[in-house]
Amino acid sequence: MASAEVAPYAKVGGLADVVGSLPKALNKLGVDARIVLPAYRMVEDQAENISPILCEFPVRINETWSKQAYIRSIQKDGLTTYLIGTDEWFQDADRSETIYRPGIDQYLFFSSAVLQLGKHVGWNPQIVHCHDWHTGFIPVMMKHSPFHQWNEMASVFTIHNLAYQGEFDLDILDRLGMGHWLFSPDFVEAYGRVNFLKAGAAFADLVTTVSPNYAREIQTPEYGARLEGLMQYLAKVGRLEGVLNGIDQSVFDPETDPNIPCHYNSSQPQGKALCKEELCRTAGFLPGPEPILGIVSRMSTQKGLDLLIDAADRLLKKNARLVVLGAGEPPILEGLHHVERRHPHQVKFFEGYHETLASLIYAGCDGFLMPSSFEPCGLGQMIAMRYGTIPIVRQTGGLKDTVEDCKTGFVFKEKSAVAFLKAIDRFLSLYEDKDRLNEMRKSVMNVDWSWDKSALTTVKLYQQVLAKRQSESIQIA
Ligand code: ADP
Ligand code: GLC
Repeated sequence: MASAEVAPYAKVGGLADVVGSLPKALNKLGVDARIVLPAYRMVEDQAENISPILCEFPVRINETWSKQAYIRSIQKDGLTTYLIGTDEWFQDADRSETIYRPGIDQYLFFSSAVLQLGKHVGWNPQIVHCHDWHTGFIPVMMKHSPFHQWNEMASVFTIHNLAYQGEFDLDILDRLGMGHWLFSPDFVEAYGRVNFLKAGAAFADLVTTVSPNYAREIQTPEYGARLEGLMQYLAKVGRLEGVLNGIDQSVFDPETDPNIPCHYNSSQPQGKALCKEELCRTAGFLPGPEPILGIVSRMSTQKGLDLLIDAADRLLKKNARLVVLGAGEPPILEGLHHVERRHPHQVKFFEGYHETLASLIYAGCDGFLMPSSFEPCGLGQMIAMRYGTIPIVRQTGGLKDTVEDCKTGFVFKEKSAVAFLKAIDRFLSLYEDKDRLNEMRKSVMNVDWSWDKSALTTVKLYQQVLAKRQSESIQIA
């Protein structure tokens, strides 16, 4: 599995969680799944059980451009993660906020190195599973790079978010030593640019996305981000599948999470109240019975935070309190700082990326808000439920597949502050009725969000891809 983010080493959002946990579940099913990640400085500095350099080799990207790569590896929980390093690019990434830097050369290098890695570490995978646009050219390189065709391997490309496509000028193809004939709507061109996400989707043997509902949505103009035609085509020919994400339930576990002050579970939930007290102290709130609503999120327009900013004054008349944690787009950060300034006793906005604080928010809050404008899957609602925190979500993407209105949370449909507030009101009424609240808390904590089922589906898909590959090569022979 090749990805630009992998938890627990280098994480910005859910992509890292997924690539860090799915391979573990696949290994349990007998698949030899291994991960490949750029050797960011933050990983090399902090990871335990990291090996010395295993090998070095030149990565050739075009006739005149080649760059030396080194490989290190990390062993954790029976899982191997290979790190691809070089003297440039990844050395600047010392924290979550600096993982993604502008430019494309680092991903061309990484993609190319992924394809050479097997030979150098003595490993011959049958499938290369790529994630999101940064790795979108791997399936193209496997078929058309003059330097390392990997035709006998199959490729799977997972779209975690269709909104990020990685668009570049035509000269990227020169940089890759590839012919301009690829710059066509049938291949890697979309709307006059070389589109990395499209390239991955067009060339991979199978495309998956992270929930069944999002797989349907991306075939529509509303959610298709201008690639709905390609998505419709892939679905029609059986090359698009929606497989619901899971989470690593041993990581997100209120019984063992080292980041929370008191442990609890669904039969002994008392510790949650102590986590709430600690959250109040951390947020500078007076302790009290009022409900606390939480958000842990990338601050991106995708997340529907404009609805929250719009609804905030009306919401805060209701005696609820709000704790938000996130890093991202400046206008959203500014909007939330304004809300905090207007309601200093009820609102705390922590700007930044903090895993310890994230756990405390999941555990210490009563309700968790995800008013997303679109949401391919969403892990926040699953994590919140694990910690007995009731999700209040918009009915979109994977949120629709994972939250059942009035049973495991509160769901609203219309993209408006009014609809959002109505859903929050329904939660606040539940909050007043302690028996019903405790009942819902218990049931959300008992939902199974493990990878077991989806890993099995993934193995079946891998088998289908390999079988198709085999029949194709027999036909060619
Ligand atoms: P997305 O992948 O779109 O960001 P998800 O809900 O799938 O959304 O996953 C988000 C993941 O990132 C969750 O594990 C969440 O706890 C984590 N996360 C998001 N923002 C922060 C933050 N500021 N600090 C710590 N963890 C965060
Ligand atoms: C993306 C999506 C999110 C999904 C995550 C993991 O970042 O925005 O909905 O849960 O990837 O697949």
